[in-house]
Amino acid sequence: MSPADLVMQSYGRCCASSGFFDSFYQYFLASSPEIREKFAHTNMPAQKQLLRQGILNLVMHARGMPDTKLRALGCSHARGALDIRPELYDLWLQALLQSIGEHDGQCDANTRLAWHEVLNKGISVIKAQY
Ligand code: HEM
Repeated sequence: MSPADLVMQSYGRCCASSGFFDSFYQYFLASSPEIREKFAHTNMPAQKQLLRQGILNLVMHARGMPDTKLRALGCSHARGALDIRPELYDLWLQALLQSIGEHDGQCDANTRLAWHEVLNKGISVIKAQY
């Protein structure tokens, strides 16, 4: 199975596991005061839905979808908008991998590696807009 297919299946299992996005934001917010500050006024239930779609965009990009949606995400997260420093994506990635490990009962080393590859590819498109 290709990395993109492994990730698509793993993501399906994560989304079917209750509390996946709660775990992610729990880890992500705990990882830095700068991140907690950014989400201080955010409607978190709505944000969890937006992230569900955002991750899907990363996965679809790895499956060959054009990068239009990721570039738009890059614009909203750029210096002149949300101003998300590129370093913060490392914490985002760590929090997501931690949650995947807990919510995908079939996540093995290969799946983890595939997630790394897929996410890094998409994150570099987003960061390039900073
Ligand atoms: C690849 C990683 C990421 C994805 C897929 C993602 C996805 C999204 C999406 C879909 C939205 C809503 C639509 C938009 O504003 O464009 C959003 C908003 C937001 N994101 Fe991200 N994001 C990522 C990384 C980060 C990081 C590292 C931070 C750091 C704190 C962050 C902070 C925010 C904030 C503050 C908002 C606005 C929340 C509000 O409306 O109050 N994001 N993100």
